Amino acid sequence: MRLTDGHLGNVRSMTYKISVNGLDRTADVDGDTPLLWVLRDVFGMTGTKFGCGMALCGACTVHMDENPIRSCITSIDSVGTSAITTIEAIGNTPAGRKIQKAWLDLEVVQCGYCQSGQIMSASALLAGNPHPNDADIDGRCPATSAAVGPMSASAKRSSRPRNRADREADHAPRSPRANDRRN
Ligand code: FES
Repeated sequence: MRLTDGHLGNVRSMTYKISVNGLDRTADVDGDTPLLWVLRDVFGMTGTKFGCGMALCGACTVHMDENPIRSCITSIDSVGTSAITTIEAIGNTPAGRKIQKAWLDLEVVQCGYCQSGQIMSASALLAGNPHPNDADIDGRCPATSAAVGPMSASAKRSSRPRNRADREADHAPRSPRANDRRN
């Protein structure tokens, strides 16, 4: 939401108020400033990462009104009154909590740089579809194959008590297609 308009020398500044993780935050920036840079540089919330800057990699994913968006191409003036959720608060949601637990249980992290975007994408998918199959995951999540395990495992845990078969399945090789994506 745009609050004021002003000038600092030759630079036009505007004050925007947006809701981030349940708190009202204000930023004096140009309207076309990407949300990603407002989060990182203005608010100091560096959990959301910059990757490609072109809406391709998903590293910058946050939720806008519970929908995953690419913050690198989302301008601050397009946020309006929508609620933004970032990786810093996703553990406060039921789906986010399950995904983060699965992430730790299955030791998904490789270099770790993209994991915040992967967790944000996976938790949005799980919130809307508690029992995703491989097609749901392939079609909607930009994350690597490392995300497939946590989402499937988390869906299993949410539907019934875990048994020995579940535990063995967690550690079994994934489909040949999933294995291809690891390379
Ligand atoms: S930084 Fe790659 S999608 Fe935004």
